[in-house]
Amino acid sequence: MQNRDSSSAMSMLSCVFLFALLNLLNIANSESFIGVNYGQVADNLPSPAATAKLLQSTSIEKVRLYGSDPAIIQALANTGIGIVIGAANGDIPAFASDPNFAKNWVNGNVVPFYPASNIIVIMVGNEVLMSGDNNLITQLLPAMKNIQSALDSVSLGDKIKVSTVHSMTLLRQSEPPSSARFHPNLVNVLKGLLDFNNATGSPFSINPYPYFAYRGDNRAETLAFCLFQPNSGRYDPNTKINYMNMFDAQVDAIHSALDSMGFKNVEIVVAETGWPYKGDSNEVGPSVDNAKAYNGGLIGHLRSKVGTPLMPGKSVDTYLFALYDEDLKPGPTSERAFGLFNLDLTMTYDIGLSKSTQVT
Ligand SMILES: *[C@@H]1O[C@H](CO)[C@@H](O)[C@H](O)[C@H]1NC(C)=O
Repeated sequence: MQNRDSSSAMSMLSCVFLFALLNLLNIANSESFIGVNYGQVADNLPSPAATAKLLQSTSIEKVRLYGSDPAIIQALANTGIGIVIGAANGDIPAFASDPNFAKNWVNGNVVPFYPASNIIVIMVGNEVLMSGDNNLITQLLPAMKNIQSALDSVSLGDKIKVSTVHSMTLLRQSEPPSSARFHPNLVNVLKGLLDFNNATGSPFSINPYPYFAYRGDNRAETLAFCLFQPNSGRYDPNTKINYMNMFDAQVDAIHSALDSMGFKNVEIVVAETGWPYKGDSNEVGPSVDNAKAYNGGLIGHLRSKVGTPLMPGKSVDTYLFALYDEDLKPGPTSERAFGLFNLDLTMTYDIGLSKSTQVT
C-alpha cells in the first residue's frame, strides 16, 4: 500500500516535471513573432482551406488580412493561428460618426467567429496619416475608439486590440536612428493615437521596407546592409551603436521617435516588410537571391531573439509581405512578385519556414 502510494506520488511528480519540461520546450520553440500578410488583390488564389493547411505546415503563427473575408476567417478556425483583420479607409467616417456602425461591424465580422477563429487585432485603416486627406486623418482616432467601445460592449475589449497601420514616411528624419522624429505637423494627431495605444495596450504598427531604402541608394554596401549580409555597419554617434542591418535601424528609428514623444513603452509591430523576387529589367533590387537573403536573414534575426539595439532581448511581431503574389496589383512587375508561396503551395524560395525542414 505504502509502496503503491509512494510510487504514484513519484509518477505524479515526474508528470509535473515532464509537463514543466514540455512547457519550457514549447516556449523555446514558440515563434509567435512570425506572421504573414495575406493579400487578395488576385483572381487565382488557392482556396481558404488549402491556405489554412499550408500555414499549419509552417512556423507562421499569425496572418494579417487586409479585410475581413469570412471564408478565410472561418477556414482558420481551431488552428490557433492569430488573425489580424482590417477595416477599410473608406469606412472610417462611418465608424467615427456612428457608434452603431462600429457595433454592427464587430457583430458581423468578429462575434460570429471568435474565439474559434483567433482574431487578435483589428487594423483600422491603412497609412491614413500620409493620405493627405485631413478629414480622414481627424476621423481615425474617433473611429478606433468606437470600434474599441463596440468590442468592450461584447466583452472582447481586452482580448482584441485596435490599431492602425503607419507608413515609415511619418518620419521626417530617420538617420541616425536615435535622431528620428515624426513630421511636426503630425505630432498632434499622433499624440492622440499614441494615448489610445498606450491606454489600450495596442501596438503602433509600421511598414518598414529596406527594399525601398535600397532603391533610393543602390550601392553594394547599402544592399549588404539591407540584406543582413556582412557589411561595415552604420554608426549612430549619439548612442555609439553600430547598426548592422537596415531593419534594426528602421525599427529603432520608430522607437526613438516614440520615445521623443514619451511613448517608448508602446509596442511596435511590423505590419509589413518584404522583398520582391522578380521585377522589370529597369527595376533595381528584385531577384530571388535578394528576396531570399532579406526574408531568410530577417527570419534568422527574429529567431535569434536578439532584438534591436534599442529594444534588446525580444523580437518584434513581424508580418512578412506576402503569402502569395497578387496578380491584379497595378504597377511594375515587382508589385506582383512578393509571394513566399506559389499558387501550387510550393515555396517560391526556401527560407526555412516549413515545420518539417526547420532545424531547431
Ligand atoms: C501610459 O499608460 C500608463 C498606464 O496607464 C500611464 O501610467 C502612463 O502615464 C501613460 N504614458 C503616457 C505617456 O501617457
